[in-house]
Amino acid sequence: MSFKRTLVTSALPYANGPVHIGHLAGVYVPADIYVRYLRLRGQEVLFVGGSDEHGVPVTIRARKEGITTQQVVDRYHTLIKDSFERFGISFDVYSRTSGAIHHQFASDYFRKLYDTGKFVEQTTEQFFDPETNEFLTDRNIRGECPRCHAQGAYGGQCEKCGATLSPDELINPYNAINGNPLQKKATSHWYLPLDQYQSWLENWILENHKEWRSNVYGQCKSWLDSGLKPRAVTRDLNWGIPVPVEGAEGKVLYVWFDAPIGYISNTKELCDAQPDKYGQWETWWKDPETRLIHFIGKDNIVFHCIVFPSMLKAEGSYILPDNVPSNEFLNLEGDKISTSRNWAVWLNEYLDDFPGKQDVLRYVLTANAPETKDNDFTWADFQARNNNELVAIYGNFVNRALVLTQKYFEGKVPQAGELTDYDRETIAEFRNVKEELEKLLDNFRFRDAQKEAMNLARIGNKYLADMEPWKLIKTDAARTATVLNLSLQIAANLSIAFEPFLPFSSAKLRDMLGMKQVDWNRLGHLDLLPAEHTLGQVGLLFEKIEDAAIQGQLDRLARIKAENEAKAKEEELRNCKPAEIKASTSIEEFDKMDIRVATVLNCQPVKKSERLLQFTLDDGMSGRTILSGIAQSYPDPSVLIGKQVLFIANFPPRKMMGIESQGMILSAVNADGKLVVTTVSAPVKNGCQVG
Ligand code: 2FM
Ligand code: ZN
Repeated sequence: MSFKRTLVTSALPYANGPVHIGHLAGVYVPADIYVRYLRLRGQEVLFVGGSDEHGVPVTIRARKEGITTQQVVDRYHTLIKDSFERFGISFDVYSRTSGAIHHQFASDYFRKLYDTGKFVEQTTEQFFDPETNEFLTDRNIRGECPRCHAQGAYGGQCEKCGATLSPDELINPYNAINGNPLQKKATSHWYLPLDQYQSWLENWILENHKEWRSNVYGQCKSWLDSGLKPRAVTRDLNWGIPVPVEGAEGKVLYVWFDAPIGYISNTKELCDAQPDKYGQWETWWKDPETRLIHFIGKDNIVFHCIVFPSMLKAEGSYILPDNVPSNEFLNLEGDKISTSRNWAVWLNEYLDDFPGKQDVLRYVLTANAPETKDNDFTWADFQARNNNELVAIYGNFVNRALVLTQKYFEGKVPQAGELTDYDRETIAEFRNVKEELEKLLDNFRFRDAQKEAMNLARIGNKYLADMEPWKLIKTDAARTATVLNLSLQIAANLSIAFEPFLPFSSAKLRDMLGMKQVDWNRLGHLDLLPAEHTLGQVGLLFEKIEDAAIQGQLDRLARIKAENEAKAKEEELRNCKPAEIKASTSIEEFDKMDIRVATVLNCQPVKKSERLLQFTLDDGMSGRTILSGIAQSYPDPSVLIGKQVLFIANFPPRKMMGIESQGMILSAVNADGKLVVTTVSAPVKNGCQVG
């Protein structure tokens, strides 16, 4: 190895909401597995995390909740930090970007690049709200879609027709927060001229880092192939780190400029506080013998592979990332996880609902990790992996080995006797375990590595099931001793192999085995527990998860889905613009219409017609039949029976599908295009005229 130490960073989550399973699966569990593994191998490693507290998302949340931005980040930083701790994400430092140390550090970093001429200044026209005196970011600009003319399309995309839009294309753009119409106004900003780094990046990534994951490499290549452009590193916003340049009042550093610098400032914060333990921060960031690894999600690739390295290169004295093992996305029950739509499993809520089951989620998320493609989390799979793998294989094996030893050998590891061929074959399965796990973990293949560990549990479970020591004890105590000795050695190995993945369960298992320490170097050896060694207290390593608990989660998601649909509908109606008023008419023209009230006695679809409903009406006279083309809007027309409706009584009768229609039922066209039958606000006598 040509490096002495490894610095591991994990993306700083926005402090605009709690963290969810997507965060854990995509970034924090893999980073934690990796770091725990390196520590087990005795390597010098530092694991840096923190909250990303600037940017527009936190200001949006503050407006939504009616509190200050600082209150938002205080609340969520605390919640996020706590969730990570409870899931055993073993950061050496977890700080925040709104802190004074970070502000100073990021400000100085900008200033150094500014002073050495690394930025270009450009003036452009941006959308501005004259009433609030604010420039708007893309996501706060809405207007009419130029393609489908839907109202309320966003600066980035029209949700109705899916068109990708720039805010400039929107018709009548307005401020999404207050509805104010917007103007264009000139503003100047500093840009990092990424175009100047293009050929250096091409060489550094495309030539020298071919080993990066194909999803990461591919995304970089496509950015580079389409040609890099200068990127603004400042914004007109009142939340963030002030741009340290005279005349730049009202401007802050762009969140994506300051956030990655947070990795450095958080390292500095830790090292300055405990230099004896962690050394100098510069050693972690500037010594070429340090290896830097960024764990991130796929939406962060461009920033970590192209923008941040260019910032580091521009400064000149920093090392560059050695690898950026980015995951793809995790979906939830088939839908994209979304903080704003509450479509997520929040970590704090999970821990309330499944106390003590951190490792179950860690296990499931790694087993299903979106390492090379998007993946789906389902509660059914969560239950199955717990019940059929953790409980039925790993837990069952360990429990039987321990309980039988308690029962037959007074809780002491029995002395092994002569080995059979099957014993030797089982032992042989462990010979290369350490090397194989290392190979996978060194290559960031956590999913396969965990599978490998589970495979060991499978081997143990099968061995015990085949040997049947509960039967053997009746005839051959010496052989039973050998079988249980070997089983306990396997269990001890499992506690080491699973340590990076399931740290809570490994610790629990070691307690049960009375094992004092984990020695990675001894992994694969089947003599970890000496004969006569006293075991600890035996308990269950994993517990079955019942259907009711899973149903509770599914019910919660169903409620959220229904709420979201209702909200989307409301929003659609709010944004719907009424049709133009028709050419003027007169009371005389209107008076020619004979509009009356009738009660629906029956309403049913017309056979062989997709469109028509047949109404049988009590019109206060001799009754009548009317056909109306609203079947698509009423999948269950019986809901109309008993309602009083309005109809035109003096249209000439017309035959459709062999049925005579004697008038027309009046319907309103809803914003979603559905037809809604009109009615009266209180009962009236059938046959009454409307005017
Ligand atoms: O995507 C996000 O959640 C960002 N807050 C990640 C920032 S990573 C780093 F640059 F800090
Ligand atoms: Zn559209």
